[in-house]
Amino acid sequence: MSYQDLIDFDKIGTLNPEVLHSEEIYRRELATVFARSWLFLTHESQLAKPGDFVTALMGEDPVIVSRQRDGGLRAFLNVCRHRGMRVCRQDLGNTQRFTCSYHGWSYNGGGALVDVPMEDHAYHHRLDKPGWSLIQVPRIETYHGLVFGCWDEEAPALAEYLADAGPLLDPMLTRYDHIEFVGPMKWRLVGNWKLAAEQFASDGYHGATAHASAATALDTDVTAMGMDRDSLQIGSALGHAGALVTPARLPLSMRGAEVDTPVPSLRVAHLNVFPNFSALGSGLFRVWQPRGPAGMDIWSWVMVPADADDDTRRKLISKVSLSFSTSGIFETDDSENWSEIQAVSRGHIARQMPLNYQMGFGLDHDDDRIPPFNGKTGHMTNDIGARYFYTRWAELLDGEPLTPDLPGPALTS
Ligand code: FES
Ligand SMILES: [Fe+2]
Repeated sequence: MSYQDLIDFDKIGTLNPEVLHSEEIYRRELATVFARSWLFLTHESQLAKPGDFVTALMGEDPVIVSRQRDGGLRAFLNVCRHRGMRVCRQDLGNTQRFTCSYHGWSYNGGGALVDVPMEDHAYHHRLDKPGWSLIQVPRIETYHGLVFGCWDEEAPALAEYLADAGPLLDPMLTRYDHIEFVGPMKWRLVGNWKLAAEQFASDGYHGATAHASAATALDTDVTAMGMDRDSLQIGSALGHAGALVTPARLPLSMRGAEVDTPVPSLRVAHLNVFPNFSALGSGLFRVWQPRGPAGMDIWSWVMVPADADDDTRRKLISKVSLSFSTSGIFETDDSENWSEIQAVSRGHIARQMPLNYQMGFGLDHDDDRIPPFNGKTGHMTNDIGARYFYTRWAELLDGEPLTPDLPGPALTS
């Protein structure tokens, strides 16, 4: 079987809802999509000094990201080499040591096992401590301050991986001279992670209905968004996608600083960096963490200028959070739809009912205003981004699962 059979974007324009429910597909996603893609971990503003660390997720694998004494960054699997306990249980902090709370094995900021309680008495000087260091994430790179990790040693460099997302990402990241990420705010939701990633990649269509009442409350007109000839949607062969929109048509809740995109008359509305790192033009960034086929954890940050005074900072955070946060009035509209889709598409009949991805079907075209770009554009109200997202997803599922290069058992001497 080919996982491409779950999508039909060549002839009809459909998606099999099984992609939201199958445990087998989910396990395959972890081994191919999440193990082979560059995944967003944090922003450098959260790792300013040596010893600063954050904990993050790469698919379902927990990791620690830490700033080293030499200024470099490292990431390790946050799983104790002894019996597999989570080593670090904090969200972020500064430390010289990570000490496991179960039996007390202790690792330094570089991930090396440096202290084992009762080592002499219990292991008789025969424990090969260097051989039992934390598992390193082999690739860690930054892009305009964003920190990404990747388990695949063969993956392209991060800059190459993100090149197609540049027209959407760069205008966000060059908005202020110095950026600070505030967060993450974290919460859990019923709904497959792809429901959210796909929406941020592609779905300008839902606003006029799903957010109608919220938009009225905010005195903004979401029905206008993208309803002009210039606004457009982009989809890349690497699975990245998003929309550029005429600023006057952008709802207030999504409006950010007026920074030019490659098309000067347009602004970033929404985007998804494949597979699960999304942003809105207002300065919202988030990761849709997979939590089984039917659940996701949402980790959400707000971008502010690092040198902003308290008042500006508070206003920016409140503006974004009013729309998108645990209590955001747009967030609850989206959450309700994703959780309901997850619930109702589980049934025996519904699970076999193809879903419609025909919007703008066959009308994709090149747009040389947006270099460098390996993909197509189309009108803003379009499924082009979703089709590119799922095409790349299926391509990775059809590839080889990653076999990590883990150390063999370190024998006592
Ligand atoms: S599980 Fe960590 S020290 Fe035993
Ligand atoms: Fe929405």
